[in-house]
Amino acid sequence: MKVSVIGAGNVGATCADVIAHKELANEVVLLDIKENYAEGKALDMWQTSPVNMYDSRITGSTNDYSKTAGSEVVVITSGLPRKPGMSRDDLIATNAKIVKSVTEQVIKYSPDAKIIVVSNPLDVMTYCAYLTAKIDPSRVFGMAGILDTARYRAFLATELNVSPKDIQAVLMGGHGDTMVPLPRYTTVSGIPVTELIAKDKLDAIIQRAKVGGGEIVNLLGTSAWYAPGASAAQMVEAIVRDQKRIFPVCAWLQGEYGLNDIYLGVPVKLGKNGIEEIIELQLNDEEKALLNTSANAVKEVMSVLDNLDY
Ligand code: LAC
Repeated sequence: MKVSVIGAGNVGATCADVIAHKELANEVVLLDIKENYAEGKALDMWQTSPVNMYDSRITGSTNDYSKTAGSEVVVITSGLPRKPGMSRDDLIATNAKIVKSVTEQVIKYSPDAKIIVVSNPLDVMTYCAYLTAKIDPSRVFGMAGILDTARYRAFLATELNVSPKDIQAVLMGGHGDTMVPLPRYTTVSGIPVTELIAKDKLDAIIQRAKVGGGEIVNLLGTSAWYAPGASAAQMVEAIVRDQKRIFPVCAWLQGEYGLNDIYLGVPVKLGKNGIEEIIELQLNDEEKALLNTSANAVKEVMSVLDNLDY
């Protein structure tokens, strides 16, 4: 089985590395437009295989999509990352062109693939890939919720001084500052988090999680990669191992949550067919209002894409 990762920058390379370590595929193809870049990174990674004891065969390619042919899953990470002072939405014009041309090549060589989009602005780049690929939306979706929830869970683990493994959470909405962490659906080994933490502390953590990507951009001068790469790899794992995991994923909504024709983060079941089910939670009025605000923010950027000549 083959998994391809498009874009050998920080996120793509990290994602490919995690996929190989976990032996999620016997063939991992890393592809980049920059001459020799993916080849170099893939060779370096392959040389860790005897040390780290895995046998996923990882190779790199400069823009030769025939090497990705027949992939079961393709992760698209291509595009520019944010710099300090930029919002994810500032990347739309540049990244739309890139994501469109990448998706055309991907679908040409792997018409049956599940496509995971990681490029920003995430929700709208997923929409861009969907419009380009012209395949069922159960096979085109975006990685954001796992990353955003991971940040929220990591902050909670630090605050409560407990294992991050024991923190479960749901987070919905777009991959932007309007994302909606849901304290009512956050537990520590089944214990509602609200029983373990004061409201003001929880509110501060939620706020930090919402701008968690920006915090890293400010520290590093570019966007994050370890957590985004690992989060995308976790989606690959759920698909190739048909795990039926429940994750927040950027999915195409057709009436769910009262929303139509929009890519937005919602809890889904992820298995070998891609998105196998969209789970509809019974949100209260406050949660619904937050989700609608987030949906409106995403819709605005979707309409920028709709009016863009790219
Ligand atoms: C982040 C970028 C990858 O949230 O969107 O770190």
